[in-house]
Amino acid sequence: MRNAERIIIALDLRSKEQVVEVLSQIPQAQFVKVGMELFYSTGPDLIATVKDMGLKVFLDLKIHDIPNTAYGAISTLSKLGCDILNLHCAGGLEMMQRARAAVTGDTLLIGVTQLTSTDQSMLNQQLKIQGTVEDCVLHYANLAKQAGLHGVVCSPQEVTKVRSTLGGDLITVTPGVRPAGDSVQDQKRVMTPKDAIQAGSDYLVIGRPILADPHPSQAFARILAEINEAEVAK
Ligand code: C5P
Repeated sequence: MRNAERIIIALDLRSKEQVVEVLSQIPQAQFVKVGMELFYSTGPDLIATVKDMGLKVFLDLKIHDIPNTAYGAISTLSKLGCDILNLHCAGGLEMMQRARAAVTGDTLLIGVTQLTSTDQSMLNQQLKIQGTVEDCVLHYANLAKQAGLHGVVCSPQEVTKVRSTLGGDLITVTPGVRPAGDSVQDQKRVMTPKDAIQAGSDYLVIGRPILADPHPSQAFARILAEINEAEVAK
């Protein structure tokens, strides 16, 4: 895999026009993430538009429902030909197993462990899940493996442990990545691109640090340079 493909640009935008405009400013882009905001605004046709631009697509709809409905959702989404789809591990083993059985073609299905906006006090006090964020992430990652998923989404802060727990076959996708000096915004468990790659992330999901930069292509290039540096240091 080329290092530029390891940067998944989060297209947190609202229209196809904005997507085309933004991507025209980042000619190095290889992989993009289409999330709820964009998918719900534009509809499924956007996926074909982005694929026609020669880009890989991670459709981030974080499915979480009863097993039968998750099966139906993944079965329908599989037909769009995305490279990655995801669901919430919190939906449980049976939901993940049914969803996995619905995946067709080359699409990978990965499980979201805990959102990178969740911190320790939120986990314990609001969600009423005992233990550390890391305990929860590792538990969910093990469940995802048991369900036969292709990988997990986790924070770069947990990726080393997740890697050693899951072994080398499963992919790790990590949001919560912030180049040194950038604002963390609502992300709580963050790391720099270089540290995230060194910690064992396969793919970095990065949105605002690229899209909100006055020169998105330069922001992308700086992140890529960090990844190249991390690879050399490995
Ligand atoms: O702008 P920023 O780099 O924070 O964007 C991160 C992207 O990754 C957002 O689209 C967000 O929905 C997504 N994401 C996340 N944490 C997860 C899973 C997905 O931040 N655990």
